[in-house]
Amino acid sequence: MDQFGTLDNLLQEERVFRPLPQLVIEANVNPQELEAHRRMAGHDPLGYWEEAADELDWFKKWDQVLDDSDAPFYKWFPGSRCNIVYNCLDRHIETYNKNKLALIWEGEPGDSRKYTYFELYREVNRVANALRSLGIGKGDRIVIYMPPLPETVISMLAAAKIGAIHSVVFAGFSAKALRQRINDAQAKLVVTADGFYRNGQIMPLKETVDEALVGACADCVDSMIVVRRCKVGVDMTDGRDFWYEDLIRNERNISPTEVMDADDPLFLMYTSGTTGQPKGIVHSHAGYMVGVHRTLNHVFDIKPTDIFWCTADPGWVTGHSAVVYGPLMAGTTTLMYEGHPNYPQADRLWNIVAKYGVTIFYTAPTMIRMLMRFGIQYTRQHDLSSLRLLGSVGEPISPEAWIWLYKNIGRNECPVLDTWWQTETGMFMISPLPISLLKPGSVTKTLPGVEADIVDRDGNPVPAGKGGLLVLKRPWPAMMTGMWNDPDRYREYWEKIPGMYFAGDVARKDEDGYFWIQGRADDVLNIAGHRIGTAEMEAAFGAHRAVHECGVIGVPDTIKGEAAKAFIVVRPEVEPDDELIKDLKRHIRNELGPVAVIKSIEFRDNLPKTRSGKIMRRVLKAEELGHEIGDLTGLEDED
Ligand code: PRX
Repeated sequence: MDQFGTLDNLLQEERVFRPLPQLVIEANVNPQELEAHRRMAGHDPLGYWEEAADELDWFKKWDQVLDDSDAPFYKWFPGSRCNIVYNCLDRHIETYNKNKLALIWEGEPGDSRKYTYFELYREVNRVANALRSLGIGKGDRIVIYMPPLPETVISMLAAAKIGAIHSVVFAGFSAKALRQRINDAQAKLVVTADGFYRNGQIMPLKETVDEALVGACADCVDSMIVVRRCKVGVDMTDGRDFWYEDLIRNERNISPTEVMDADDPLFLMYTSGTTGQPKGIVHSHAGYMVGVHRTLNHVFDIKPTDIFWCTADPGWVTGHSAVVYGPLMAGTTTLMYEGHPNYPQADRLWNIVAKYGVTIFYTAPTMIRMLMRFGIQYTRQHDLSSLRLLGSVGEPISPEAWIWLYKNIGRNECPVLDTWWQTETGMFMISPLPISLLKPGSVTKTLPGVEADIVDRDGNPVPAGKGGLLVLKRPWPAMMTGMWNDPDRYREYWEKIPGMYFAGDVARKDEDGYFWIQGRADDVLNIAGHRIGTAEMEAAFGAHRAVHECGVIGVPDTIKGEAAKAFIVVRPEVEPDDELIKDLKRHIRNELGPVAVIKSIEFRDNLPKTRSGKIMRRVLKAEELGHEIGDLTGLEDED
């Protein structure tokens, strides 16, 4: 099964799955209520979102639900005062949730920590005080370069509590990628760990930050907080680096929650685009909290007894909305696992499900494909009967993977909720609810209050069954509020197809109005559910001494969905050989980190280019996959 096999299957898939009656009876939102939500959102979308906002706590309510006078710079809930952390922690402390488990964490070696809402609240307050003592305040940027540890969540919440803006950088990124993000954000502080456990090994982390900060690089950073995870030796720079435990030891348990304006940024999340420079997507307190709260509650039907496990790393938007902010606002118990799914053996995830009685398991197709490859014998070693809902995100899920999950993990009872959204959207946009009729491989319909369509390049709707561009036709509360340092790049999302938000995806809608996502329309690869731009990879290759020119394309990969293939023209004095291939792969790992998976490298004498000198990746891809090359007008050398 490759990516294109998947697409073919998607086009043919006709199976439907109905929810079990018991699920419908017990659902927080039953079919009649969902219909009522849709009707209301259809007539009065702002009223719909206002009602959603009323479910949260505010220091001051809004003057208006949406100010669209400066579109596409939409302002949600202007005039309001709030703080998302108040809704994640403070308000639970005043209810029976106070002593409920907020966070369960399991380390790869098998150690585990649990925090009640009160304990998490207390810890966040202490770290908030520590941050303030280091001179961090409202509007300052903090980069969190951490593996999945409780301190990652605590640092995010502490930053937001004091009005600072966090930017979590995935621990798999290289020193160079980290430096680029620190510089763009002009971060004053970095939170990191000495190392973490992955696949039975200790991966050093602090030294990567040291490398990122070397010399005058990233000299915006005044201090670093280091969590002692693996007790490995690290170099601490006097006056700059502080151990987490030393900093909070004497801190008090209360630190005031900063009162934020609706549009004050909550976090930056860097994601890949079509140029070499990652984009700093900005999300702000008010709209993000309303959109994430409503959609997570609806889609995952959160109940007081749930144990919610989203396997995403906090370094991605999924980790923000579905590991930290969404579950905590909902008052549920969120679970986090530090390590590799295959460690010490391939039943690790099922061991965790059984051990903690996980009820909702939300993961990515790349993980499902890996689990499928391990084999079902591992799933049978554990009692998975606590599970009631399954979820998927990040890339199209093939019907085979969907059915495998439904059958082997979900006992033919647990709906698979395939949620379509993006870093930019902040919240789920197109997704079923547990009561929905499901078609494997389809993300079903838009959630109430969201309007999406499939259009051609001019913005005209295309008929049912035909592929086209997936657009959003109306602003939504959790939408990004801007692009850090780059308003023009934000505007581009709304200008490619005037008046609509173009998400970058190709999709189709069937006769029942169900959406089927087919993949990216632009030069962005989706490797194991992680976005990475071909331009970013080409720039990284270009920095290698042997490379004269380079073109990168995505090719199908059985486990990762997609991986990169590079076509390289070497400098005249270089003789390409296997050693060079190894060296180039090593180089890319150093430049970008293990996220950028290179499947193969091919040396060429020249690359197809337009007359203006742009490398035509489309031609390379068509050649590679044996497709029609299409229109070559404009090619520099048509031979
Ligand atoms: O191509 C779509 C794919 O992931 C992209 C967004 O990537 P990112 O911003 O990293 O966020 C990933 C997690 C929210 C989209 O443009 N994508 C996301 N969810 C799905 C998906 N493709 C198919 N089905 C999905 N459920």
